[in-house]
Amino acid sequence: MAKKFIIEGGRYLKGEIRIRGAKNAVTKQMVAALLAPGKSVLNNVPEIGDVEITKQILSSIGCVVTHRKEAGILEIDASNLSTHIVPQEYSGLNRIPILLAGVLLHRFGKAEIPMMGGCDIGPRPLDFHLEGFRTLGADISYENGAYHFKAKRLAGARITLPFPSVGATENLMMAAATAQGTTEIRNAAIEPEIVDLALFLQSMGAIITQETDRTWIIQGVGELHAAQHRVINDRIEAASFAVSAIATRGDVLIRGADQLHMLTFLNWLRKAGGEFETVEDGIRFYGVHSKLKPIAVETGVHPGLMTDWQQPLVILLTQADGMSVIHETVYENRFGYAETLNRMGARIQLYNECLGGRDCRFRNSGHKHSAIIQGPTPLKGASIEIPDLRAGFSYLVAAVLAKGRTEISGVNYIERGYDRVVEKFQALGVPISVVE
Ligand code: EPU
Repeated sequence: MAKKFIIEGGRYLKGEIRIRGAKNAVTKQMVAALLAPGKSVLNNVPEIGDVEITKQILSSIGCVVTHRKEAGILEIDASNLSTHIVPQEYSGLNRIPILLAGVLLHRFGKAEIPMMGGCDIGPRPLDFHLEGFRTLGADISYENGAYHFKAKRLAGARITLPFPSVGATENLMMAAATAQGTTEIRNAAIEPEIVDLALFLQSMGAIITQETDRTWIIQGVGELHAAQHRVINDRIEAASFAVSAIATRGDVLIRGADQLHMLTFLNWLRKAGGEFETVEDGIRFYGVHSKLKPIAVETGVHPGLMTDWQQPLVILLTQADGMSVIHETVYENRFGYAETLNRMGARIQLYNECLGGRDCRFRNSGHKHSAIIQGPTPLKGASIEIPDLRAGFSYLVAAVLAKGRTEISGVNYIERGYDRVVEKFQALGVPISVVE
């Protein structure tokens, strides 16, 4: 039988948890470690499915990976890479294989990368990655379900991304770190997780400068060396639990929640009536007496409201008094989860139009990328199936809020990105059990 979570709802979250390293930073840094022979060490590594998948990918091409899970320490010895081919079996599991293009080019002068996967939240094309690599001088072809990259040594160039893509920025930054000459990536992503990647690369010997206006300047150096790095804390995990605390009228101290990287989220939370206080080493979120209010907001690239904060926020807004509007501008198909919430009692309507803000890239795409949430609505338990990672967490929060029992299947999605999620909910007083 597939694994399920069973939650007895009508609860509030109370207590204290600790956030661990960010999923969307650690997996990229694991890949970056391959740029240098020797043993790199990452600290603050979360216990999540995406780290496991990435470990398997790295092992399959000859890395020796040692993970001390309790301590959160991951050692990656990339001294003896055995192949430039990422096996087909890793196609479709997550977004990591394409990020190996630059590191394998550096180590072998060629790379073979199977087709991509990840959560089903839009088509998620790779054109920015491929175009960027071509600009750096790589020869790319597509055959038998895999991209084939070739380049003796990449050559620095000026690249302007059509949209500030997180993955493309990271990929090109890693590739440029050891290229011949200087690379300029304009209209680049500048998320804290990317800055964290730049810091790790700098520790490995790279020369990377962040300029104004979304520009990274990377002066290629011939070789990098193994290094040690502490992974930035997960601001999505922190925001997810923050919203859970407030929506359920609970009180949770989130150790490791970093105000600097949550500035925009905290502003919107406050506008929605959520209360918090910053303490040393964390933020306390409480909603016992909060009067939750509707908001109109759009998601966007950093420093905007992260698209990954959208789903838990929607749960909060189902409990606010009035009509909220959310305009999703990063992914065209990120409201697929609303239908299930409506089945649980929410009142969420989706629209093709760009509601409540400026027009975005998806204006005439026919995709339902705006939502109106009417609150407050009591939720009731149901039997539900998770469609993607962030939606999965919002279902968990909905289940905690809902009257009655909720059975959630497809929980491997949640475990891909949330560290010890069952233990953390249990520590906060939620009766959640796992059926295997
Ligand atoms: N895009 C293109 N062409 C490309 C690359 C991206 O059109 O070659 C488009 C995408 O379709 C999307 C937009 O650009 O509409 C942004 O995509 P981006 O490349 O920034 O996303 P990503 O790197 O694939 C990462 C995170 C996502 C997070 C986004 C945005 C990882 C492994 N994934 O994805 O996280 O939502 O950045 O911040 O880092 C999650 O954690 O659940 C998750 C989906």
